[in-house]
Amino acid sequence: MLYITILIPKFMYRSRLKGKLDESTLEFLSSISDDFEIVLYDILGSQAHTLMLLENKIITKPEAAKILTALEKLKKKNLSKKSDAEDIHELIESLVIKKAGKEAGGKMHTARSRNDQITLDIRMKIRDDINTVCFCLNEIIGTLITLAEKYHRVVMPLYTHLQQAQVGLFSHFLLAYTDALFRDLDRFYVAYGRVNESPLGAGAVGGTSIPIDRQVTAKMLGFKGLIENSIDATTSRDFAAEYLGDAAILMTNLSRLAEDLIIWSSSEFSFIELSDKFTSTSSVMPQKKNPDVLELIRGRTAQVIGYHVAVLSNLKGLPSGYNRDLQQIKISIWPTSKIIISSLLVINSIFKTMKVNEKKLRQAIDSGYSISLDIAENLVRKGIPFRVAHGIVGQLVQIASTSRKKLSDLSVSEVNRVISNNEISAKDLHKIIQSTTPESSLESRRSQGSSGKHEQQRMIADRKGKIRAYTVGTTKRTNEVRAALEGLNSKVKALIKGRP
Ligand code: ARG
Repeated sequence: MLYITILIPKFMYRSRLKGKLDESTLEFLSSISDDFEIVLYDILGSQAHTLMLLENKIITKPEAAKILTALEKLKKKNLSKKSDAEDIHELIESLVIKKAGKEAGGKMHTARSRNDQITLDIRMKIRDDINTVCFCLNEIIGTLITLAEKYHRVVMPLYTHLQQAQVGLFSHFLLAYTDALFRDLDRFYVAYGRVNESPLGAGAVGGTSIPIDRQVTAKMLGFKGLIENSIDATTSRDFAAEYLGDAAILMTNLSRLAEDLIIWSSSEFSFIELSDKFTSTSSVMPQKKNPDVLELIRGRTAQVIGYHVAVLSNLKGLPSGYNRDLQQIKISIWPTSKIIISSLLVINSIFKTMKVNEKKLRQAIDSGYSISLDIAENLVRKGIPFRVAHGIVGQLVQIASTSRKKLSDLSVSEVNRVISNNEISAKDLHKIIQSTTPESSLESRRSQGSSGKHEQQRMIADRKGKIRAYTVGTTKRTNEVRAALEGLNSKVKALIKGRP
């Protein structure tokens, strides 16, 4: 534990100002307690900057070595929150100066500013978080596709207005969420390109007269390029707003998914059973098995939406250039990442461990009238206009439901009551009702993207290929960042070799 208070020169930046900040004002201003998520990024950024200063002969080799040694030491230190520094940038610089001396350490901040530093750190953090989120999404999509393969013959009712609508397949439901999550994955995947641009070297707002090389630092830190315009680089946080927007949409999808699973795991539905591992019980009612984990996904979605709105509201009225309001966006980003990553992990486990009650799903179909549209379509095939067929089946359902019968239990004479214009004989209608089963319906449903059996198989194969492409892409990106940072590390190690 390092107690900074006594170690650092107090209020390092305040030479222009008379007097120091009182304690409560410092606490009000400070972002230090929010900055610990970015300590490592700040150190890496400082190391890349130092190496670039050396390569461009702005500082000497011994100076660079001293700075880098100090920075390397800080990687291993647990920086205490007890500090007079306003933020992590001030804290790290003051500690470098303390260790490397003012002559060398005082040169680290040449040709940069906290304004390019902070947005660099946030970009590096979001970049890593996006890769993690993409991996988690790859995982859960993979799970959904595997389950879709397993359940591609399991019939279930599909709902509109939470009333039985059509006969469907469990795989169809799983594939519906697969596709929604694919869009989420793609949103993050594409946003990565806009995050992965280096702002370092933009300086305070207008750049610098010192002959720095921004491309070099960008490359050392694994960025694809620069966020070029120095005003834009230091002012803009749309990359963060985009990340949070993508997160809010993802959570909205997960929350809806959680809601489906909550309803289906109720004793009234019992379509699925959640594993005991992912349920809670009651302190008072011993019989309870509650889907608290899913409820928390629904609940935390509200927070993530709130964080997104907070950032947009923060940004919308700011003048160009850095403003301290921007400090506040960090506290929306860190918890958002935690929530989305943990939600994806837990939902994946829930899917992997839940049981699907095929019998109950079948019973729900058999006791309802979700086969109605299929019967109507079979009448259409016989040349009856759809509106007439709709009328016939509607009346059949009315007769069956008043006498609490299944459609297939209606007699020929009951069926006869709904035929008014000899569109079809009662016998033929009766035969069509008898022969229209969930299986026959799902066999004959062919429209693209439908519950039809063939469509399930086609979509499963198609989505399998698609997920592979994202997995390869995300792995490549992660490796590129890792390789760059390993390269940076080797350069640092080579320079500081043998130094205490
Ligand atoms: N703590 C600040 C933040 O998180 C860092 C940048 C401060 N820059 C400044 N000019 N005051 O945004």
